[in-house]
Amino acid sequence: MSVKSEVLNELKKHENTYISGQELCQKLGVSRTAVWKHIKGLKKAGYEIESVSNRGYCLKGTPDVLGKEEMMTELETTWIGSEIHYYDTIDSTNLEAKRLAEQGAPHGTLVVADCQNQGRGRRGRAWTEQKGTGIAMSLVLRPEIPVECSSMLTLVTALAVAEGIKDAAKVDVQIKWPNDIILHGKKVCGILTELSAQMDELNYVIVGIGINVNIESFPEEVRDVATSLFIEQRMKINRCLLVCKVLKFFEDYYKEFVETGDLSKVMDEYNELLIHRNKPITIVRQNQKQEVLSLGIDQKGELMVEDASHEVYTVISGEVSIRGILGYI
Ligand code: BTN
Repeated sequence: MSVKSEVLNELKKHENTYISGQELCQKLGVSRTAVWKHIKGLKKAGYEIESVSNRGYCLKGTPDVLGKEEMMTELETTWIGSEIHYYDTIDSTNLEAKRLAEQGAPHGTLVVADCQNQGRGRRGRAWTEQKGTGIAMSLVLRPEIPVECSSMLTLVTALAVAEGIKDAAKVDVQIKWPNDIILHGKKVCGILTELSAQMDELNYVIVGIGINVNIESFPEEVRDVATSLFIEQRMKINRCLLVCKVLKFFEDYYKEFVETGDLSKVMDEYNELLIHRNKPITIVRQNQKQEVLSLGIDQKGELMVEDASHEVYTVISGEVSIRGILGYI
């Protein structure tokens, strides 16, 4: 932990009471000037810190920020976020995570940004974001799994995001296979998994997560399909707490995934959240549409479907996309 994070941590431990400058210096083994410099930095970042002579410092309010210090004091993971890279603005956290991975960033490196100006979505689409309202983050992963298993990580991530949102925002969300998170029939989160491999060996996987958190409105053209936690709940959510919950769930599900190398331990939970489970859907393969019944995922993360002649088979996410019979869901 950096000294700045440690100062914040001590202030949080004493939230709404005072901690003297002297005590901070002793605890952290730094000079009064250093403490004062970090307090000033934290105030600049939006923390409400009261300084009273003879009493010391008191944390009165925490801003909704995704900064490294805030993240470090809230994160309850063991290996995710062992390295954190925070940016006020970046082109894309996935691109930055890739650049860092190429330079050797370790397994679990977390890249977070308050704003992306070239956010990337699936199928070459853009992912737009307003500053200070959403979550854009990417993880560098170096799993020791066969290349063909890496797509399962997308489903592991979807499950972690769904549980993280449920926990932090106290609202039930569902999953549209493979990885859209749905709230009241609209998309609230997207996940983009990218990988680098040589022959059949995985170098690294980047898992990018974009969550619409406190966004107040969307452009008309996407209003029917996109939403935010704020729009649905009318409540602002602390983004850092949400990130930390998602990452904690991710770490737990990831462990179960690598133990077996497939989704056998998490697929029941995933299927519970599947919005179109046992419902008719349209699968689209190179502009060819077919109506089938969606049965849920198998341990490889493929979607089991039943066609009109009651034949059951699986479809792979890279090859097909799915729609509800009447539209997006
Ligand atoms: C989708 O199309 O549904 C996937 C959207 C993924 C967006 C996230 S935001 C963080 C990360 N960085 C990116 O550029 N994209 C992903």
